[in-house]
Amino acid sequence: MAKDGEKSDWKEFLWNPRTREFLGRTASSWGLIFLFYLIFYTCLAGMFALTMYVMLQTLDEHTPTWQDRLSTPGLVIRPRADDTFEIVYTIEDTESWDLYAQALDKFLQPYNDSLQAQKNHECAPDKYFIQEDSGEVKNNPKRSCQFNRTVLQNCSGIDDRYYGYREGQPCIIIKLNRVIGLLPGKDNQAPYVTCAAKKDDADKIGELIYFPPNGTINPMYFPYYGKKAQVNYSQPLVAVKFLNITHNEDVNIECKINAENIPVGGERDKFAGRVSFKLRINSKN
Ligand SMILES: *[C@@H]1O[C@H](CO)[C@@H](O)[C@H](O)[C@H]1NC(C)=O
Ligand SMILES: *[C@@H]1O[C@H](CO)[C@@H](O)[C@H](O)[C@H]1NC(C)=O
Ligand SMILES: *[C@@H]1O[C@H](CO)[C@@H](O)[C@H](O)[C@H]1NC(C)=O
Ligand SMILES: *[C@@H]1O[C@H](CO)[C@@H](O)[C@H](O)[C@H]1NC(C)=O
Ligand SMILES: *[C@@H]1O[C@H](CO)[C@@H](O)[C@H](O)[C@H]1NC(C)=O
Ligand SMILES: *[C@@H]1O[C@H](CO)[C@@H](O)[C@H](O)[C@H]1NC(C)=O
Repeated sequence: MAKDGEKSDWKEFLWNPRTREFLGRTASSWGLIFLFYLIFYTCLAGMFALTMYVMLQTLDEHTPTWQDRLSTPGLVIRPRADDTFEIVYTIEDTESWDLYAQALDKFLQPYNDSLQAQKNHECAPDKYFIQEDSGEVKNNPKRSCQFNRTVLQNCSGIDDRYYGYREGQPCIIIKLNRVIGLLPGKDNQAPYVTCAAKKDDADKIGELIYFPPNGTINPMYFPYYGKKAQVNYSQPLVAVKFLNITHNEDVNIECKINAENIPVGGERDKFAGRVSFKLRINSKN
């Protein structure tokens, strides 16, 4: 009996023919609820769209509104070693270094003089290549300066297509990551890259030679205005050639950029402005 009562209560709750209520509410009550939520969500969506629109209006498509740490660019090396940053090979084993030479060939293709002459501008050296917008009028697209492969001389892969790997005098190429607006160097002191052995390996690194001379990065490659504004930008490079590195031993090396006004990573970011890698050249002789 009690069970039947419950059942009919439940049935009545679902649909009460007497009061014409569905789930305890009349049709008009339900209608009002739906109407309320419809208006509520429409307003919410409208507000979201409006905020989005306003935000997008304030964005400049050519420069990021927020950029972390303007000051110190990261450095990377080529040939790209695996994630461990090791370049290890055996002089007599051609296959062990051929991949490195091929990687450099590929990396340097876009720097071929002829391609640079097509794409880029012959800039006045030793000063920044400033191309500011004048107020609302965008000075786009912006030109970029030529960085000719031949500037890397003995590390350009032109005269020596094995980049010194075959002789045990390998070239490593250092690339500065792009940082929009960076103006490294001060008072006509161009930034330059230096490499040195880590503490215990100081007597193993031997003599180095840099291309361009002294590892200098010409100021004309700065500032960088961003991918959209400066489509043909070629990042400047520095090559370092190890002329007399000790064979059959690990040599830990660190390269860094030197410029008066850019701090090299301290505790906060150990990798800012520097790159470390291991070089090991094995020789059976
Ligand atoms: C770049 O130059 C090298 C050597 O001069 C040549 O072998 C290569 O085909 C060139 N690549 C392009 C894309 O022009
Ligand atoms: C780069 O090479 C091209 C072609 O040889 C040459 O015309 C141009 O002057 C060179 N640019 C620089 C900056 O040396
Ligand atoms: C970029 O390079 C292309 C050729 O690859 C050239 O036609 C174009 O004018 C260059 N753009 C700028 C802004 O220098
Ligand atoms: C480049 O290599 C050639 C041939 O090995 C050598 O004679 C010359 O001194 C090297 N240039 C530099 C700047 O070391
Ligand atoms: C390289 O540095 C030395 C010593 O600091 C300097 O005498 C020389 O002029 C520099 N060479 C170039 C091409 O900047
Ligand atoms: C190369 O380095 C060795 C020591 O590792 C040294 O004895 C030798 O004189 C160096 N050679 C040159 C040409 O500097």
